[in-house]
Amino acid sequence: MDALELLLNRQSHRDLGMPVPEGEILETILAAGLKVPDHGQLNPYRFTVIRQNRMSDLKEVLLSAVEELDLLPNKISKAQQICSESPMIIVVTAVMGNNSSIPDWEKMITAGCAAYAIQLAAKTFGFDSFWFTGVWTESKAVHKALGLEIQDKIIGFIKIGTKINEDRECENQPLSNFVNYF
Ligand SMILES: Cc1cc2nc3c(=O)[nH]c(=O)nc-3n(C[C@H](O)[C@H](O)[C@H](O)COP(=O)(O)O)c2cc1C
Repeated sequence: MDALELLLNRQSHRDLGMPVPEGEILETILAAGLKVPDHGQLNPYRFTVIRQNRMSDLKEVLLSAVEELDLLPNKISKAQQICSESPMIIVVTAVMGNNSSIPDWEKMITAGCAAYAIQLAAKTFGFDSFWFTGVWTESKAVHKALGLEIQDKIIGFIKIGTKINEDRECENQPLSNFVNYF
């Protein structure tokens, strides 16, 4: 797939099914996440792959988060929905607190670039994705279950799989709304 075509036509797909990337393809997609701009070469990102056969375990973790964060009951069904509708999730986390002079916001941006690179790389293999966050990112239970340090910042849950619906028609917004020339 042509790189420019990928960048200009990228879109998210919320509804995804099997198959998901595995083996060398999955590793190549994850490797793309390492090739991002990174001030200080801190590699301030971690990726946690959650396959479909662990979604019931993830559901238990998210339900613990509902209790921990004292969330409204609608989050119980949200947790169930996330786990039943996700064929695979890659959790992207920004690693904080390594005593460098690089501010945390820059590490979060690098991890965000990694998440985006993963989405783009997945697309080159014909897989689609959806980046979501939500209250789960704040949960100690989620951090603990994923083996993350409590100060680390979950940047996104990247749901990956095969799109169920066709691409949407997307209108390009005029550049002039966003760009000026100094
Ligand atoms: C950091 C970040 C967090 C996001 N969190 C959510 C979310 O929790 N729920 C959601 O519906 N979309 C979320 N999105 C937006 C979707 O991933 C998606 O980009 C959006 O629906 C627009 O669709 P498009 O990517 O096709 O333009 C998030 C995007 C980013 C970059």
